[in-house]
Amino acid sequence: MNVPFLNLAAQYEALKSEILPAVEKTLAGGHYILGPNVVAFEQELAAYVGTKFALGVNSGSDALTLALRALGVGPGDEVITTPFTYIAPAESVVQMGAKLVFADIDPETFTLDPAEVARRITPRTKAIIPVHLFGQAAPLDALAKLAGPKGIHLVEDCAQAIGATKDGKRVGGFGAIGCFSFYPTKNLGADGDGGAIVTNDETLAKKLKMLRVHGIERRYFHDLHGFNSRLDELQAAILRVKLPHLDRWNARRAEIAGKFIAGLKDLPLELPVTAPGNGHVYHVFHVLADRRDDLQKHLADRGVPTLIYYPQPLHLQKCYADQGWKAGDYPIAEETSRRILPLPMYPELTDPHVDHVIATIRSFYGK
Ligand SMILES: Cc1ncc(COP(=O)(O)O)c(C=O)c1O
Repeated sequence: MNVPFLNLAAQYEALKSEILPAVEKTLAGGHYILGPNVVAFEQELAAYVGTKFALGVNSGSDALTLALRALGVGPGDEVITTPFTYIAPAESVVQMGAKLVFADIDPETFTLDPAEVARRITPRTKAIIPVHLFGQAAPLDALAKLAGPKGIHLVEDCAQAIGATKDGKRVGGFGAIGCFSFYPTKNLGADGDGGAIVTNDETLAKKLKMLRVHGIERRYFHDLHGFNSRLDELQAAILRVKLPHLDRWNARRAEIAGKFIAGLKDLPLELPVTAPGNGHVYHVFHVLADRRDDLQKHLADRGVPTLIYYPQPLHLQKCYADQGWKAGDYPIAEETSRRILPLPMYPELTDPHVDHVIATIRSFYGK
């Protein structure tokens, strides 16, 4: 049996009868940028996340960049984030001309370790970007306690965690701004690039709305240094079709995770840990293994391709060579990079696929 690592076409097939009419209607409507679908999707997303405002932008990366700009992050400021994630949050800090500061992660959840964040805070710290990695919330309470009294902004990176909860509340509205990605592989994926920014702060919402269209409030009058970062109508129309299915998809992910955990728990592997109070949406399901590369090969030889992320923590990336970071600076992130193995995980994964992955891992351990 072959188990595809991802199968985005399967989602399209299942929703084709809803997506095609939505696309057709949008094309026939003749309004392609910031039209009725974007407005409606923003309202639907805000209602889903539980924030007052949501704004569609071009990508999750842009959401982070616009968020930092709206908060006034710039040269002389420091922003703390995690070295064990996709590079976008780190890039957004560098793009603002601020100093990028990493804090190591918790060894079980791989989200920012508040004790490590605490020791990196200085009078120049302007923001913290917790990443809700692999589908579960970073320790928002502890981070808010560190940040709040010092006037430090929390910018939640929710790219991998739409629908994830903390004490029953969906992520995105805990900090000043929440940033989402609709990259096709995300739990809610567009059929192209897309992203969104959410906030409860009306002043920030207004500023963000201007920033995404060249800093304008009135056409051809530029009050801010802005960007061109808009969610397009076609993607918004498709996202509107998909959003009502998200909770069902996330529930299927959790069901698959439960099967993996039940089938693997007696093996000499570490399985995902969900922090108390967290509702996990399993964007990624991983195992941590000592002989990770041998296990990956064993799986690949038996029809189970896997992809390692992240193979190299951000502080060791070539693009940051001038920052002077070295191996050993963030030991938990480095150790996690060496041992992590994400397994196939998407709602369309069938039970026989899941059973095959489990049986193949078990056979590696002679079980
Ligand atoms: C944690 C995280 N932040 C930000 C992004 C950036 O999103 P986008 O690809 O939409 O720019 C991604 C992934 O793509 C991500 O995984």
